[in-house]
Amino acid sequence: MTEQKKPDVPPFAERSYCGELGESNAGKSVHLFGWVHTVRDLGGIIFIHLRDVTGTVQVVVDAASPQALKEAASSLKSEFVVHALGPVRKRAPEAVNPSHPTGTIEVLAESIEVLNDSLVPPFPIDSPEQPGEETRLKYRYLDLRRDDMQEAILKRHTCVQTMRRYLNNHRFFEIETPTLNKSTPEGARDFLVPSRINRGRFYALPQSPQLFKQILMISGFDRYYQIVKCFRDEDLRHDRQPEFTQVDLEFSFVTPDIIMREVEGLLADVVRDIRGIDVPCPFPRLTYDQCMERFGTDAPDTRFNLELRRLDDIFANTGFNLFKSALAVGGTVKGIAVPDNGTFSRKTVDQLADEIRRFGAKGLATVRFTGDAFDGGITKFLGDGEKAGLVHRFGLSGPMMLFLMADAAAVVNDSLSYLRLKIARQQGLIDEDALNFLWVTDFPLFEYDPETGSYGAVHHPFTAPTPGCLETLDHLTPENVATVKAQAYDVVLNGSEIGGGSIRIHTTGIQSRIFSILGISDEEANEKFSFLLEALRFGAPPHGGIALGLDRVMMLLLKRHSIRDVIAFPKTQKGQCLMSDAPSHVSDHQLAELSIKTVK
Ligand code: AMO
Repeated sequence: MTEQKKPDVPPFAERSYCGELGESNAGKSVHLFGWVHTVRDLGGIIFIHLRDVTGTVQVVVDAASPQALKEAASSLKSEFVVHALGPVRKRAPEAVNPSHPTGTIEVLAESIEVLNDSLVPPFPIDSPEQPGEETRLKYRYLDLRRDDMQEAILKRHTCVQTMRRYLNNHRFFEIETPTLNKSTPEGARDFLVPSRINRGRFYALPQSPQLFKQILMISGFDRYYQIVKCFRDEDLRHDRQPEFTQVDLEFSFVTPDIIMREVEGLLADVVRDIRGIDVPCPFPRLTYDQCMERFGTDAPDTRFNLELRRLDDIFANTGFNLFKSALAVGGTVKGIAVPDNGTFSRKTVDQLADEIRRFGAKGLATVRFTGDAFDGGITKFLGDGEKAGLVHRFGLSGPMMLFLMADAAAVVNDSLSYLRLKIARQQGLIDEDALNFLWVTDFPLFEYDPETGSYGAVHHPFTAPTPGCLETLDHLTPENVATVKAQAYDVVLNGSEIGGGSIRIHTTGIQSRIFSILGISDEEANEKFSFLLEALRFGAPPHGGIALGLDRVMMLLLKRHSIRDVIAFPKTQKGQCLMSDAPSHVSDHQLAELSIKTVK
């Protein structure tokens, strides 16, 4: 075999990228470095699609090429790493591929050097079909070579750049807070890290930088941000990871309005850079109570209607026993009206009723409106007044199917909000391109747990009550607890909570009162947060903030179904990294050093 001459690696500035070549480069000799995406040997002529982070370009070794070059080219296999050198030329008109970004040109190879070979990948990199997720996660380095993962990771990079630019221009300081911490109470379990030097003691990985960012306000850094990893040992879902990234903000001398405006500006810039569209600002706002009333959830998807309607007054004197008994014990009757497209057979309705059992629902009543009369389901239990009431409340005109429920408010809301979304998906009522941002405000400060008779914080214990509610704190009861509102706000996108924040308590007096309502004793408060309580005494400014979930924002903007598809190295639903096999066992020696014994 004749040796071909190896070209030197050019200085970085002289390197070209596959996906960036076009007709303007015709005639120029380019150095390309990348992976063999596909190779086709047509006998006399070999076509190689070479891929790098910018895309692919066709490299040609033709019949007139030197023998050594032809031999090098015909030895290539998918995913070999090569350095190709040669001039860019326009393709003949019949060879142009208008659907490919570099389809009007090709590179005529003068030399091809194999920098490394590759095993046959367990799945093709060039196929639009996704391999199974387990294989993708095990071979994540190969999965990340695929187009949709490259897009996700590069767009995430763009998003972070946009955010930093926006925040830097708006006078925020980027400050790092520690990862080895004391526990931060965000409601999930902590990941603990044993200390070798302080035997028997543990750090907690931060569930968020909440306390440290508040301390930074006390130190005078009046606008802080950090794009920061947070860790929560909680049950995982399609939009939850045990380690995830927050875009964490805190401001001094601030009102909720100022925070919301900044977040709107930040998200509008991100959407423009990622999706190329302008989001209308300001975002609509709904109170928590309005959300629960109209959508049955505090993170409503407003891309479609099918709103819940309360029907308590219509059924106040009903003879229908199921509704009557629910109302008699303080329950509520609500319903949704769905366009009747003929798909609601007895079987599908039974299936839906079955699915909402998980929310505690004991039944689902239906009735069909044909356009001028009620039919089937619970029609025989409806009086004329009730029928007229339903027509009016739902604004019925064309054929509709009504799903009605009577139960405790929480059961009704959870069930109907689930059905609303499920049916909207089934009926294709959701505009998948829409981006419906929304603020939810006036959350309750506490939630009451009748089983334990105790109060918990809806957000976290540092959230300030609205000033008008301070008096109620002195005579709080399970009945009036919902009237105590927090100065807290969530930002919701297409039915997912993408961020949450609040104005914080900045005086020790109110903070201690809240701790005592939450059943956090002075002793426990001192043990856990004495540094914060003490710092609040040294001239703490009024302050507040918010954190956005970066992974969720990216998932929604890129229309991915799983948060794992926008994270380079995610964990599985079981919290494992299939590539590195974390978490793993450690040696007895390591455990002994940490004074830890494991219980098998
Ligand atoms: P919160 O707990 O609401 O607030 O978290 C803020 C946002 O972080 C995202 N998020 C998650 N994303 C992926 N996986 C998870 N396990 C996960 N948990 C939360 C969500 C959420 O809206 N310290 C407060 C913020 C503040 O008050 O300033 C906090 O952490 O998008």
